[in-house]
Amino acid sequence: NYYETDSESEEEDSKMQILDEVKQEEIPEIEIVSQNFKEKMKEENEKRRKEESLKKKQLDEAYEKFMATLEKIKGSTIGVERTHELQAQRSKLPIFAEEQPIVEAINENSVVIVHGETGSGKTTQIPQFLYEAGYTSNGHLIGITEPRRVAAISMARRVGEELNQPEIVSYQIRFEGNRTDATKILFMTDGVLLKELQMDIQLAKYSVIIIDEAHERSMYSDVLIGLLSRICMLRAQQGFPLKLIIMSATLRVEDFTQKRLFPSTIPKLISVESRQFPVTIHFERRTPVDYLEAAYKKVCKIHEKLPEGAILVFLTGQLEVRKFMQWAMSRYSMRKSKKGERKRQKMLIKHSNEVKQVVDVEEFGVSDSLANFDDTKPRNSDLPANDSEDRTANLDEDGVLGYEFEDDLEDELFENNLPPPPAEIAPLYCLPLYSLLSSEKQRRVFEPVPDGCRLCVVATNVAETSLTIPNIRYVVDTGKEKRREHDPITGVSQFNVGWASQASAGQRSGRAGRVREGHAYRLYSSAVFEEFAKFSQPEILNKPVEQLVLHLKSMNIVKVANFPFPTVPNLDQIEDAEKKLIRLGALEMNVKNKQKEARITQLGRTLSMFPLSPQFAKILVMANQHKLLPYAVCLVSILSVREPMISVVSIRGMDSADTQQKMAEMLKQRRSWCGLGQGRRLGDLMVLLRAIGAADFEQMNQNECEKLGLRFKAMQEIRKMRRQLVNLINASCSLKEDLAIDTKMAPPTEEQAKMLRQILVACLSDQIAKRVDRSIANEEIPKGAYQSQKLEGHIFIDATSILYQEEPDFVLYQEIVQVQNRKCMQTVCAVEQEWLPKLAESYCNFQVVEDLEPKYDSKIGKVVQKCKVTFSERAWPLGEAD
Ligand code: CDP
Ligand code: MG
Repeated sequence: NYYETDSESEEEDSKMQILDEVKQEEIPEIEIVSQNFKEKMKEENEKRRKEESLKKKQLDEAYEKFMATLEKIKGSTIGVERTHELQAQRSKLPIFAEEQPIVEAINENSVVIVHGETGSGKTTQIPQFLYEAGYTSNGHLIGITEPRRVAAISMARRVGEELNQPEIVSYQIRFEGNRTDATKILFMTDGVLLKELQMDIQLAKYSVIIIDEAHERSMYSDVLIGLLSRICMLRAQQGFPLKLIIMSATLRVEDFTQKRLFPSTIPKLISVESRQFPVTIHFERRTPVDYLEAAYKKVCKIHEKLPEGAILVFLTGQLEVRKFMQWAMSRYSMRKSKKGERKRQKMLIKHSNEVKQVVDVEEFGVSDSLANFDDTKPRNSDLPANDSEDRTANLDEDGVLGYEFEDDLEDELFENNLPPPPAEIAPLYCLPLYSLLSSEKQRRVFEPVPDGCRLCVVATNVAETSLTIPNIRYVVDTGKEKRREHDPITGVSQFNVGWASQASAGQRSGRAGRVREGHAYRLYSSAVFEEFAKFSQPEILNKPVEQLVLHLKSMNIVKVANFPFPTVPNLDQIEDAEKKLIRLGALEMNVKNKQKEARITQLGRTLSMFPLSPQFAKILVMANQHKLLPYAVCLVSILSVREPMISVVSIRGMDSADTQQKMAEMLKQRRSWCGLGQGRRLGDLMVLLRAIGAADFEQMNQNECEKLGLRFKAMQEIRKMRRQLVNLINASCSLKEDLAIDTKMAPPTEEQAKMLRQILVACLSDQIAKRVDRSIANEEIPKGAYQSQKLEGHIFIDATSILYQEEPDFVLYQEIVQVQNRKCMQTVCAVEQEWLPKLAESYCNFQVVEDLEPKYDSKIGKVVQKCKVTFSERAWPLGEAD
């Protein structure tokens, strides 16, 4: 109280005086120092005051200037007339109360990171706040990027509805969009914004860019953040600032605040208060082996024993979701329908020997409750081992081309979903949710649940953070997720199911506490949980980097290794990708200031315009030069779909005479399609080209496909992909004539088939394998053994291939698939040895034959020199060539 004064600074002064006095009294020698010190302090203070007032003046000026430039990107505020109902919904969101601080933070900072729990309203509300604050009134756009196409579409629709002006909110995903001149808020996938950056590095059309779901660390969103960190600086220097908002559902944002990324600004962090109710987490005592089965049982128990409240189940993929739905249907919904009853009977018979003792139910305090629990569902092992349509579908959230399935099965299930239930148990209203489900079907999870039903959403990790389903009370978490894992050595990418991260598990559990307290059932033990990674790995660390490298190069980022990535990818992989791109002719080595740099070539620039891997893009470009584009479109569609042909292992009951017969018929048909010349050498690709070119390809049903050994799902994907490619090419390339979408296509002539093979050799040189010469090697080499450039050990041509008997010296394969204990090449065509020095020159090693002098060849007007040629790093001899 003694020191209490009016202002804080006075208080400080008086404190200092007293200290000085004390010093004076006790240590007189110091007094002089202190006296000097005092004067010095006075001077210093004076100086500081002056400096400060100058600084303040400068700041004021800067602020005014800033506000003026802000006006440039941001006009006057805009009023919105929302419907009463939606306004009421908005006002319940935690973020609603934070509108002002958020808008102020964005006005005053060039980079803002918004953290808020999933469901707090970030995605739907922040674009509206900015719209109302005038960020679009000078004709600029607010852009929001999403890692998932689903989210881009559904959020655009939702925000349009909330604003009561659907026409100003649009979405743009790779092949479709509804952007018009009226668009003010644009939701897009991150890949789309990257493409746009290629056209306009300043993003002059935008006043704000929002990177949503940044915590997911998708490769593109990471790259975008790196690029935008520089673009913001650039635009600020030009007095035309661009606002960058990074939105994350987790607080792990240190990667985004690094000085490397933002050297001159510290991003402003805003945390939206979360309105989360307590969630009780239940672990299993023992981790079940079959998580799908465990999830199903858990859901049954919750539904039959626990009080009302919606259930959300996390599985890993589309196929699992559908399997789960089937089981749930057979138990809860089909009982009264005759058709359903028949189906159920069938299932019961099929799986009667698999009915298992149900696990203990102590957890719910009911031990006899399962006396009449009919465990009618099949086991997980019934799932095809290679969930392959799922894999292909997943291939892309934007990386490669994507597909969406129309699913008859689903409609059927939906129709049967709600017949009257057994008297004692309410019906379970099961809805699937995965990223490639059509948006209409996805919307069902937001719609009211039919009276007297319990909602059960069976989801993949789309429901983890992208979409929030209201009213969930119980979460069932398998703890698994499907990840695309890229093997940099083989270059093969695969989807693998593995444990999710602790952060994901936390997000999943959190879904149960949005409206009241809830329960999360984790289908694994707490010991297993402890072993989970804390956070999932940024995608950039396990994706093929060629497309990324080429993309960055096309934006004139030459030293990719120096790019400000939030997480720096494997530099070796970048180097490998550069090498591969140089071999493809997309990059070339330049020496600049005595430093070697791989720069993009004209071909590279062309290739980078395609949303395809550079190899596939090159196939299209070369084919166009030779007027083979329609075939090339088919080939690329085939090659980007997994396992277009049914491989031997997938043919059930191979031993039965019936199957043998079918297989013989299939091969006969295939042989007649291929003939004996070039068509035969084009191998499985010829078979596929014939099938796709057939007039009835669009209508071909499952039965007809299987007769020809073609995988039905893959054929559907190929149709879609082909249509998309045709649209893409017609939209983006100036061809003399537009490509036709109609499918009928004459088979390639001898000459064309040969040319197509040559194009494939030139573009996919690293997928060429050589037959192991058994005459010189030891006898242990099995018949039909090949060697690839990437893998150790022997590989084989799949036995269903038309070239299986032929065993050409060199073949080109689509992919290598592990088939039981053998690695098999799928979709194979033959390669002529003598082509390699010309078409795959960069893969060849030319060694001058010393005792032969170079000679002038008057026919071609060039000096030629005989060389010994070997192919690939494995030094496969190819003989001699000029
Ligand atoms: O982005 P964030 O996770 O923070 O939340 P959001 O996606 O903006 O969702 C806010 C709220 O809007 C949630 O409660 C959703 O359930 C709701 N919402 C909805 O009802 N219908 C949609 N199509 C999208 C969101
Ligand atoms: Mg969101």
